[in-house]
Amino acid sequence: MALNHRYIMSVVALLLTLEPTHAQGSCDLSRGRWVPDSSAPLYTSSSCPLIKRAENCQANGRPDKGYENWRWKPERCALPRFDARRFLKLMRGKTLAFAGDSIAQNQMESLLCILWQVDTPINLSDRRMSRWIFNSTSTTIIRIWSPWLLHNSKEALGIAPDGLSKVFLDVPDKTLMELLPSFDVIVLSFGHWFVTPSAYILNGKVVGGQSWWPLQAGKMQMNNIDAFGASTETCLTAVATKPNFKGIAILSTYSPDHYERATWNVGGSCTGKVKPLDKAVRDGFIDAMHEKQVASFRKVVKNSGKQGSKLKLMSITKPFALRVDGHPGPYTNLDPNKMTQRGPDGRPPPQDCLHWCMPGPIDKWNDMLFETIQR
Ligand SMILES: *[C@@H]1O[C@H](CO)[C@@H](O)[C@H](O)[C@H]1NC(C)=O
Ligand SMILES: *[C@@H]1O[C@H](CO)[C@@H](O)[C@H](O)[C@H]1NC(C)=O
Repeated sequence: MALNHRYIMSVVALLLTLEPTHAQGSCDLSRGRWVPDSSAPLYTSSSCPLIKRAENCQANGRPDKGYENWRWKPERCALPRFDARRFLKLMRGKTLAFAGDSIAQNQMESLLCILWQVDTPINLSDRRMSRWIFNSTSTTIIRIWSPWLLHNSKEALGIAPDGLSKVFLDVPDKTLMELLPSFDVIVLSFGHWFVTPSAYILNGKVVGGQSWWPLQAGKMQMNNIDAFGASTETCLTAVATKPNFKGIAILSTYSPDHYERATWNVGGSCTGKVKPLDKAVRDGFIDAMHEKQVASFRKVVKNSGKQGSKLKLMSITKPFALRVDGHPGPYTNLDPNKMTQRGPDGRPPPQDCLHWCMPGPIDKWNDMLFETIQR
């Protein structure tokens, strides 16, 4: 799949700077519409100490605020507004973990900010993971950094040079698998690192790459979209069949970005966008990633028999493809002189159209998460 170079570079740059330091039941949560909602967000840009500078849109000078006032209305049911006290009660003595990339972190921080308004958590983070405990109910929220959810290394392997990320498509992340039995709920959220330069390894052999492939190696067997599907299958299969894992695993689908891709202005830019779209702009890459992930999810559920019931899909791709207004755009820092408009040549200013403002639409992922856990 040919991807616009500028798009890749902006996503890669963002991801690198942020490296650390479906529904079941009676109603498909992914089908619905955004409706205006006059109620205030569950926290503000100043009431949560965890909001990252780059995602604190209001504090960074974003002039409009309307993006905070929309709620997702599924076609066939109501999606209740998140109730922090009820959530903590439901999760009494339990552990909820987020594993994945910086979008997983974005959702985890949104959840912590919402819960923070009713109980101040204790920070027990260490090198391996970010860990917070709500003492009132002994609820633990964890985040594990694992951008491919797979074993990876930078050591030379075959034709793939030292320093380039090697992603082992058939080997799940070891740390994640070790910790898994201690989790009651795990949210898996990833995909964006499949646009970063890497080599894909299957059965010990280099089978493909992204933004890297030596001409003399001939045709690659797998591109980044295939690799994303393989990774989803490997990880979900490992989770479903893991002995002693009695919890549920929720796969959050690919988070749509709103960069310009392929040709000029197809897919758009998020700068200056103040309202959700009525209709999503079709984007070949996002559609392909989403379809691949859903197909992989269904395949694993089918092949896992009874264990497959531990796996749930939280399909956020389509609802959030409409939220072109929900990203920081140019409001990622405090610099009063930052560019916030397109230049005379029509080029957008430096912008983040991948992560989500806090507060903002990502808070609604947690409404969906709460609903998905209860089903
Ligand atoms: C939480 O604790 C870790 C480890 O001590 C520390 O690095 C991190 O800055 C703390 N986070 C916050 C928001 O206080
Ligand atoms: C957490 O709760 C326990 C018992 O309810 C209490 O003894 C302890 O002091 C609390 N810890 C903090 C840091 O609030």
